[in-house]
Amino acid sequence: MKTLVVYDSVYGNTEEIAKAIGGAISGDVKVLHAGEANLSELEGIDLLIAGAPTQGGRPTPAMQGFLKKVSGPAIKGISAAAFDTRISAKWVGIFGYAAGKIAKNLKKKGGNLVLNPEPFYVKGTEGPLKEGELERAAGWAKEVVKSKITG
Ligand SMILES: Cc1cc2nc3c(=O)[nH]c(=O)nc-3n(C[C@H](O)[C@H](O)[C@H](O)COP(=O)(O)O)c2cc1C
Repeated sequence: MKTLVVYDSVYGNTEEIAKAIGGAISGDVKVLHAGEANLSELEGIDLLIAGAPTQGGRPTPAMQGFLKKVSGPAIKGISAAAFDTRISAKWVGIFGYAAGKIAKNLKKKGGNLVLNPEPFYVKGTEGPLKEGELERAAGWAKEVVKSKITG
C-alpha cells in the first residue's frame, strides 16, 4: 500500500504528529511538508493523510496552497483522512478547526474519507503536544488503515 502524509507545521508540533502517523503505517509511506508535495506525489497512492495546525479556525496557508494544487482527477476515489493540531480552550472553537476544512475540501474533490477528521492537542500556541498525543496519533493512523481496508 502506498501512503502519502502531507503536513504543515509552524512550531514543529504538527510535524511530530505527521511523523508518528507515517511511522505507524506499513508499506510505502512518504511524509512530506505541504510545500514539497507536488501533484506528481499523488500518482499511484492508495491513501492520502493531510494535516495542519489550526490558525484562525483554518488550515495554515501552506496547507491551503497544497489543497489548491490537488485537482479532482488526482484525488478522485483515493482514500483520505485529515487531522489538525489545536488548543483545547473552548473559546477558540467558535472559529472552527483545520481538520474539518481539509476533510471537506478533499471530499468535495472526490476523495473517499475513511474516518472522521481527528484533532491532536497542544498545551500552548508553540506547543508542546499534550501527553500521549504521539501515541494517539500512531493509534489513529492504524485505525485509518483498518477503515480503508474494511471500507
Ligand atoms: C496565528 C495563530 C492562530 C491560531 N488560531 C487557533 C485557532 O483558531 N484555534 C486553535 O485551536 N488554535 C489556534 N492556534 C494554535 C495553533 O493551533 C498551534 O499553534 C498549533 O497547533 C501548533 O502547531 P505547529 O507546532 O505544528 O505549528 C493559533 C496559533 C497561531 C500562531
